[in-house]
Amino acid sequence: MSPEPIIIDCDPGCDDALAIILALHSQECDLKAVCTVAGNGAIDNTTCNALNILALCDRSDIPVYRGCSRALDNRQPATVEAFGDDGLGGYAQSIASDNHEQPKDAVAFLVEYVNNHPGEITLFATGPCTNIACAIRNSAEFATNLKRLIIMGGAKYTGNVSPVAEYNFWADPQAAHEVLQAGIANVTVIGLDVTNKIALTCEMRERIRLVGTRLSRFLYDITREGLDDNWRSRHKAVAPMHDVLTVAYMLDPDILEVRPANIEVVVDGLAKGQSIIDIDGHWHEGECNAGYAASVDADRFYHLLFTTIFDEEIE
Ligand code: BDR
Ligand code: CA
Repeated sequence: MSPEPIIIDCDPGCDDALAIILALHSQECDLKAVCTVAGNGAIDNTTCNALNILALCDRSDIPVYRGCSRALDNRQPATVEAFGDDGLGGYAQSIASDNHEQPKDAVAFLVEYVNNHPGEITLFATGPCTNIACAIRNSAEFATNLKRLIIMGGAKYTGNVSPVAEYNFWADPQAAHEVLQAGIANVTVIGLDVTNKIALTCEMRERIRLVGTRLSRFLYDITREGLDDNWRSRHKAVAPMHDVLTVAYMLDPDILEVRPANIEVVVDGLAKGQSIIDIDGHWHEGECNAGYAASVDADRFYHLLFTTIFDEEIE
């Protein structure tokens, strides 16, 4: 089978970095471009990080498009402490490269590319949904021309920036709302309920270091800040890897149990960013707008992740 043409729209970010790295190591993905958005860092940081991650993997041929620096309400999203000031746990400089972004902006690129390849592109959203919402606003055909959209965002139960909100949806709730209401035929939402179950343990992290390559050292380094933060805030010695589950799921759908759902995002007020997940559209006369990741086979995920990136089991 020919590899799946994909675009990753992201805010790297340690776990976004992992999503890109997994896609680059899989024979089943054909990464056409990386689009950036403000989130884990300001847009300068996330764009620079995307360029440098591609360079680290010797894939500077893949174009990077700079996207929105502000959410739809014109506010700059608050960055995430867990990934440090540079979004890569203080290690962004360790992979600095001379790569340059493309002159076109990410929204214009997304509209043009997806509309020129109707029904072909699987788009990953691992940051705030701002670029994708703008593409939908700018082009009547964009939503229907997408083959598939896989989003990391939301939570049915507990949030990570408020009791109810997950960061990506909270950073631009209006964008998440518009994307979910756009009528995209095939949308999967992968939230904290499952991504919290695929964190990196200390043992796994140490084994990654022992692989002994520049890439393994980088992954070891950038996951330290997230580990420390989890320990400080929740007394859990694991590092988050949320975003990488999106790519892993495309590569092996059996990793997740996905249930049809009607998903709405609260755009303002006390519950800003909360995703209201109505499994099977029970409260919406059966009408569903997405699939929601209800459970995860973590061992299956770890197997796929490590054998794909390092060509070996890490347990
Ligand atoms: C999401 O927020 C970001 O900090 C991560 O990169 C991930 O996309 C998890 O809530
Ligand atoms: Ca992210």
